[in-house]
Amino acid sequence: MDSSNLPQPARAFAPDTFKDQVALITGGGTGLGLEISRSLAALGAKVTIASRSTEHHGEFLNEARERGWSADAVTCDVREPDQVQRMTDSVLDQHGKIDILVNNAAGNFVCPSERLSARAWRAVLGIVLDGTFYCSRDVGKHMLKSGGGTMLNVVATYAWTGMPGVAHSASAKAGVLALTKTLAAEWADRGVRVNCVAPGPFHTDGASANLWPDPKVEERIKSRIPLGRFATREEVATHCLYLLAPVSAYITGECLVIDGGMTLAAGRMFEVGDRVARKPRAKEAGQ
Ligand code: HXC
Ligand code: NAP
Repeated sequence: MDSSNLPQPARAFAPDTFKDQVALITGGGTGLGLEISRSLAALGAKVTIASRSTEHHGEFLNEARERGWSADAVTCDVREPDQVQRMTDSVLDQHGKIDILVNNAAGNFVCPSERLSARAWRAVLGIVLDGTFYCSRDVGKHMLKSGGGTMLNVVATYAWTGMPGVAHSASAKAGVLALTKTLAAEWADRGVRVNCVAPGPFHTDGASANLWPDPKVEERIKSRIPLGRFATREEVATHCLYLLAPVSAYITGECLVIDGGMTLAAGRMFEVGDRVARKPRAKEAGQ
């Protein structure tokens, strides 16, 4: 098979890596979610994407039609437990199983905490933390009954460090990180693996419009990344596939940081040029 036809993240894997696996990806029609959906489908998975707007479903469904992938889309607001249950049931009705769940849907914007309204806080916590829990619980029930499955959550490195301007998103992502480890521990002995990735910034319509619409802000962020650039969506998706693939069968409860070293540099005090000459020991000083 000519692998140059595959979406870039899929090229790192054998063509049948996800053959006949049933995958559900929230927010799977845009940005990172779209990249993961396309790659899973290209590697043989039967992929359902789920999000609020049907406008966001077209690109994936059209490409799937052209390439002969197995693909569906469901309208669902992950903040609503009833809608999540309907989404899960519809995938199970159609395919009889779910092997892979990617909790990728998110909402975010920059706002000082003292100006964040209760509805704004709830909007982000609802999508990121509640949504991840509802989807994991409903799909998890099925995976536990059917002998196993794999889940991947998407957090951000400010889950550990916090970050001015995104109290809602940082708090929600910290919750998702704790949820990842909790579910991994609860479900490991019943065959369900749960991991997450923590990417640094990468370009998507949602992130670029909501987080760094000003090129000056984008340059400032870039200047703080030791590897000197944003990740590409394809790079992040490749590592998502890695944690979902059978090659990671022994990894659960883990969080893979994909941030070009940004977190390492965040709290730095010293630069190499600050080196101070060693004080001579008493013996060396001739005492
Ligand atoms: C202050 C805001 C706001 C803003 C919305 N609100 N945007 N407050 N600043 N920029 C407030 C509204 O005024 C309202 O509160 C409340 O939030 C709900 O707004 P709605 O528009 O009704 O919400 P909703 O339609 O539910 O939309 C959800 C959303 C939106 C989160 C607000 O941004 C969204 O759908 N985003 C999806 C795409 C996205 O954000 N992608 C980026 C992912 S990147 P009031 O009180 O006025 O009624 C990411 C990680 C990046 O997550 C990490 C980088 C390292
Ligand atoms: P994006 O393109 O804006 O995608 C967000 C997706 O979430 C959209 O498809 C949206 O679809 C869906 N969504 C939002 N609210 C929803 C809801 N209530 N119910 C169901 N679906 C909903 O974002 P992205 O940049 O690719 O981000 C993908 C993931 O990576 C997110 O978890 C994000 O936090 C994380 N991340 C991104 C960055 C970055 O720099 N881009 C960095 C670190 C982590 P609808 O509008 O159709 O609902």
